[in-house]
Amino acid sequence: MIRTLAERDIEEIMAVSKRCEHLTLERPSIYWTFWELFRDTCYVAVGDKQIIGFLFGTINQHDPTRAFIYNLGVLPERRRGKIATALIGRFCDAAKHRKCKAVYLTTLPENTEAITFYQQIGFKNRGMIEKVGRKRVLLEKDL
Ligand SMILES: CC(C)(COP(=O)(O)OP(=O)(O)OC[C@H]1O[C@@H](n2cnc3c(N)ncnc32)[C@H](O)[C@@H]1OP(=O)(O)O)[C@@H](O)C(=O)NCCC(=O)NCCS
Repeated sequence: MIRTLAERDIEEIMAVSKRCEHLTLERPSIYWTFWELFRDTCYVAVGDKQIIGFLFGTINQHDPTRAFIYNLGVLPERRRGKIATALIGRFCDAAKHRKCKAVYLTTLPENTEAITFYQQIGFKNRGMIEKVGRKRVLLEKDL
């Protein structure tokens, strides 16, 4: 089941995030800020009454035609079950509803599993960009 983010989810999301390679564990106030400001475009996947995956995203405030995925993770033992595909699907539906034309994100080039995943579900590799001192791959999907 996919549902929007609730404030009570934050601790559990941090526990999931800790178990996701490549993801940076943020300080709690960052997750809280997403809940406070962007909860309509942040989702959790729930299985057996536990959070098994999450997506934090938002509409770009400077360019509302584009929606940005900040963070996406699924518990290792629940992967390859289309949970991330479902989370992205919900996010894309919300972005379309808000008249966005595209969804995008960046990831480190060494995260080849995530790059393969995104390409598999229709994202295009738009090349490398420099972001806070590190080169990252820009991935984008037209809606
Ligand atoms: C990337 C990630 C979110 C994918 O989650 P998931 O729920 O396993 O993905 P899905 O089951 O929806 O995958 C859909 C398709 O993407 C592709 N795919 C997903 N993970 C893959 C992997 N590790 N290697 C190759 N292809 C992969 C497959 O084609 C898969 O379909 P299939 O299982 O029928 O072959 C998950 O591996 C993860 O949490 N990784 C660690 C955190 C991370 O890197 N997040 C992204 C940061 S931008």
